[in-house]
Amino acid sequence: MHSYTLLAPAKINLYLEIVGDRPDGFHELVMVMQTVALCDRITLRPNGLQEFRLFCHHPLVPQDSSNLAHRAATLMAREFPRIFANYGGIDISIDKYIPVAAGLAGGSTNAAAVLVGIDLIWELGLTRPELETLAARLGSDTSFCVTGGTVICTGRGEILDPIAPLTGLWVILAKYDHLSVSTPWAYQSYRQKFQDTYLSSPEEFHHRRQQVSSGALVQAIAQKKPAAIGKFIHNDLEKVVLPEFTLVAELRQVLGDLGGLGTMMSGSGPTVFTLCSSQEVAETIVKEAREILVAPDLQFWIAPITDTGIQVT
Ligand code: C5P
Repeated sequence: MHSYTLLAPAKINLYLEIVGDRPDGFHELVMVMQTVALCDRITLRPNGLQEFRLFCHHPLVPQDSSNLAHRAATLMAREFPRIFANYGGIDISIDKYIPVAAGLAGGSTNAAAVLVGIDLIWELGLTRPELETLAARLGSDTSFCVTGGTVICTGRGEILDPIAPLTGLWVILAKYDHLSVSTPWAYQSYRQKFQDTYLSSPEEFHHRRQQVSSGALVQAIAQKKPAAIGKFIHNDLEKVVLPEFTLVAELRQVLGDLGGLGTMMSGSGPTVFTLCSSQEVAETIVKEAREILVAPDLQFWIAPITDTGIQVT
């Protein structure tokens, strides 16, 4: 049996609209998700045991069964018990480069990589849609992470409608090390404040999805118009996170004022991203932002937009 090393990229939300409540307690969303080439490295090694073990040096990443990557492996063992019994368990090593608890789907992309990697090690031959369906059982962003690219994600986030990939752009990611936002808190706060704006029927949800699919942002992406893309990015969760996390609001303001195509918080934050037309523009903006915001724990990353999801090296 082979060992595999996979690259698991981060995502940003170019668009995140909360459309309504769902009976399962989650929210009905319309999102445009985008893969960014800032990757964790996941190495999977068959261990000859009847268990999965997880290794990660990052202090904030749990190494037990609470880690979504571990849960992904357990899911595969439950789905394919005879193969698990024959082939045995796997050691999962995670080298973290994506900031943790940042709104960049770091945990989800690690879990997606484990599904893709175990499929290879156990020679299951699962299709991408089959892997995405399994991934949906782990989290709302996990299905998207399997294949990545530029995708309209609806339902809980697991209904995927890929669109023409966005290429040639770069992104700045900026995050204060000490800040993290609880995703359940962000959604609950949004519900408390904005529930009266929610749509209520499946027909209304469907109609809203259609509107976004044919709306300004998706048009701009299809027509490859970077300035318009930057103008139409949107995230409803900013309405609750920015008033509570003033450092994030300030960071967004400073980065936005320094140029780039558009600046927005990703997911439930606290990472802020700026879309840029080139790596040079991104580097200039980061240099200027560092002069304005003097904070030792403010970190920046610069990465290209990519259409590649989980990749086997
Ligand atoms: O699915 P995931 O674990 O990524 O979701 C984290 C939290 O975000 C959920 O527990 C829920 O509070 C919130 N959420 C939601 N509706 C969604 C996705 C996430 O309310 N569609």
